[in-house]
Amino acid sequence: MTSSDGDGSIGAPDAALFPASTLRQDVDDYLTRALALAQQRVRAGPATPDLDIESFSRELASFDFATRRPLGELLEWSMGVLEHGVTHQTHPRYFGLFNPAPSFPAQCADRIVSSFNPQLASSTTSPAAVALEAHVIRAVARRTGLPEGAGGHFTSAGSEANYTGMLCALTRAHPAFASDGARAFPGQPVFYASRECHGSWVKIAHQTGIGRAAAHLVATDGRGRMSTTALAQAITQDLGAGRVPFLIVATAGTSNAGMVDPLHGCAELAARHGLWYHVDAAWGGAIVASERLRAAVAGLERADSATIDAHKWFATTMGCGMFIVRDPAALTAAFQVAASYMPSREQSLDPYMNSVQWSRRFLGLRLFLSLAAAGWAGHAAHIERAVALTARIRTELEARGWSVVNDSPLAVLSVVPPAALGDPRSVVARVLKSGRAWVSLARFEEQDVVRICVTHGETSVEDLAILLQALHPDSPL
Ligand SMILES: Cc1ncc(COP(=O)(O)O)c(C=O)c1O
Repeated sequence: MTSSDGDGSIGAPDAALFPASTLRQDVDDYLTRALALAQQRVRAGPATPDLDIESFSRELASFDFATRRPLGELLEWSMGVLEHGVTHQTHPRYFGLFNPAPSFPAQCADRIVSSFNPQLASSTTSPAAVALEAHVIRAVARRTGLPEGAGGHFTSAGSEANYTGMLCALTRAHPAFASDGARAFPGQPVFYASRECHGSWVKIAHQTGIGRAAAHLVATDGRGRMSTTALAQAITQDLGAGRVPFLIVATAGTSNAGMVDPLHGCAELAARHGLWYHVDAAWGGAIVASERLRAAVAGLERADSATIDAHKWFATTMGCGMFIVRDPAALTAAFQVAASYMPSREQSLDPYMNSVQWSRRFLGLRLFLSLAAAGWAGHAAHIERAVALTARIRTELEARGWSVVNDSPLAVLSVVPPAALGDPRSVVARVLKSGRAWVSLARFEEQDVVRICVTHGETSVEDLAILLQALHPDSPL
């Protein structure tokens, strides 16, 4: 029987989409065991993909979605695709971009949330979940040093949080921006970020309609941090030319090299010129968990708004960004909207009236469970451990003639190999080919470097020895 037979009767739900609950439990149990075994194999195998993408593409083409296939077979196939077809961030020798191996509480949260699948657009629909997210955000805001009353929300990732920051800044900068867009300004609106800032800022300038030319990428100080002298000059020049500065973005933990811009210096310039001050601490912001290390981002507490990704150094599953704002009324100003069909219209509570998204996944449970289970102390230990491992790699590489060219307080190294080993590009290629570890090629202050970032909470000293061997093949293991 199909779902609606010609005679008008209603058929049973499609059993492939909505199987009986006993079958669901069996499949869940099977997945739990199979995934644990797959993770054991990942840890013992290469960090890099080993699947032949051409034969995979042919296999993919055979899915015409006309023929049904058994779910059990499909699940096994899917796990194989992920086991062999992606770089493994869950591999303890993934020394990569800021993508963590997720904490277990965060993984549990995903499982719970996908079962209940609440809609977080409105506080009436999901009162407890909306309140829980707001509680976590307030706790993070307080931890950054922002005053009581600061708020914000979870975002899909750091790019959305940065985008939210720019919309708040533009809306605050001109009362007619909300209705008239960029043409409300008497001249080209411009904002400042260092030339080492995350590339999302340029895309965001495009998205908001102020144009990519609005991004003034300020010179660095030769050590990867925004030069406040160059910043002050750029503002003066723009004002003189009739342009309209509205925002300074400082980065606390550049993507390339983990450098922290002068947060106090940028705050002072923002205050002097009446500009919105956003700190992009997508990765580095989590360091506020550590009382011992948090001074690395001193000045973050002066921000009007900040980006902190829980899916980076807070180690939740992807993507789980956070937008933190000193005065939540800025969000209401930027995102107010009316919709008669929504079950509630509580401006101060409803996420759909205070954020970019409308339909919204319950992301906050991931960080809630992580913080509730491990406390700030557990997150501090996670961060301090990564910084200590990074210091260990640094010592070992320097002893072998490598130069460390960044000076980051966070867990990332930009290193240049001794000439005898070849240039950074060839060293990275050799490490990736070996599959024994994952490191990347980056540019830092006009030179190629090998970028090594400790992101996995369980990377061991033995893993460091294997990394050193892969980087420097004549090193003893
Ligand atoms: C400093 C910084 N800002 C923003 C982002 C963008 O964050 P996401 O990738 O979560 O969108 C990144 C990503 O690495 C980043 O390093």
